[in-house]
Amino acid sequence: MKKLKVAIIGCGNVSKVHFAATTTNPSAQLIAVCDIKEDRAQSASAKYGVPYYTDYEEALALGPDIIHVCTPHHNHAEIAIAAAKRGIHILTEKPMAVTLHDADRMIRAAEDNKVTLGVIFQNRYNPSSLAIKEAVTSGALGKVLGGRLFVTWLRDDEYYSKSDWKGTWDMEGGGVLIDQAIHTMDLMQWIMGPIDSLEGSIHNRTHDIIHVEDVAEATIVFQNGAIGSLYACNFYTYDADVFLEVHGENGVARLEKDRAIIRLQGQPDKVIFPEGDGEVIGKSYWGVSHKTQIDEFYDDVLAGRPVKIDGVAGRKALEFVRAIYYSGTHNGERVTFPFAEPRGFTPPSLTRK
Ligand SMILES: NC(=O)c1ccc[n+]([C@@H]2O[C@H](COP(=O)([O-])OP(=O)(O)OC[C@H]3O[C@@H](n4cnc5c(N)ncnc54)[C@H](O)[C@@H]3O)[C@@H](O)[C@H]2O)c1
Repeated sequence: MKKLKVAIIGCGNVSKVHFAATTTNPSAQLIAVCDIKEDRAQSASAKYGVPYYTDYEEALALGPDIIHVCTPHHNHAEIAIAAAKRGIHILTEKPMAVTLHDADRMIRAAEDNKVTLGVIFQNRYNPSSLAIKEAVTSGALGKVLGGRLFVTWLRDDEYYSKSDWKGTWDMEGGGVLIDQAIHTMDLMQWIMGPIDSLEGSIHNRTHDIIHVEDVAEATIVFQNGAIGSLYACNFYTYDADVFLEVHGENGVARLEKDRAIIRLQGQPDKVIFPEGDGEVIGKSYWGVSHKTQIDEFYDDVLAGRPVKIDGVAGRKALEFVRAIYYSGTHNGERVTFPFAEPRGFTPPSLTRK
């Protein structure tokens, strides 16, 4: 059986779940690792017995079938496009890019070079998320009327001081929305359907050393007429369970972290727990579904099938985030979708004076 040759670019925090998935997949063979920080590349190389590189172009020149992009947000586009030009399939971590312009360049590069571009949003694969999606698509919940989303986590100044790219508009591309809340925002738009318009705000209310938002809220109108409410901050006192509720004319479907409760009129509550056998690698709030998505990506590439979360699907969560950034820096102006993001749009620094 042909094995897919895989290279992992970026050997920081999230790479451990990628290494774990790749090295336990019988269809894949890890052939190289790469990180601009040589010590990180070297230690991954020693652990997995493969050569290391500090320049991703050298890793691409080996001719892997697939690369995983596990680097900071601002260079996902550059690395993905370089891979596409060499005919290499790409699986990139969220967010796929910092701007919609870069996301579009990635999608175009993948199409032009006939390679697969996948974007990690592993929580779509959790049994809880799938159950809520099914409650909507099957019609069990009835017409969708509303939805609300809360992500209240803790990322203090110390967290930001340990990173050389977080807390910046140019490298992280934002704060709580683009990094933490984007997972739940992706679920919201995936489950509730396309967004028609939104109005939002962003602020930095508690952090001294960052330029980006630590709190955001938005009111969202979906194309199906449903109304959504979003609140996210990363100055709460702990990483509280994320919360997403969809209200339909027959009841509510609620996600609390990785557990779903479906409450339909006249029926007992249905509770969907996370699968018991998933091993938590990395942080527990990342969930256990990276491996599910990565395994499926490999199967789809081998079969020549489209992937579920391709560049176009991955772009939707970024469009949601970027539209709030735009509204939040334009006095809460209503942004209609598709959001025609002005070229070069970057919110101003939200540094506290
Ligand atoms: N899906 C999830 O649940 C989840 C969880 C954590 C992080 N992430 C995402 O994973 C990505 C990486 O995050 P992280 O927490 O691992 O960050 P990190 O800072 O721990 O690691 C990033 C690594 O990339 C390396 N790097 C930077 N530029 C590079 C380049 N040009 N070539 C090669 N290596 C380069 C850095 O030296 C660093 O070691 C981000 O997109 C982040 O949002 C996703």
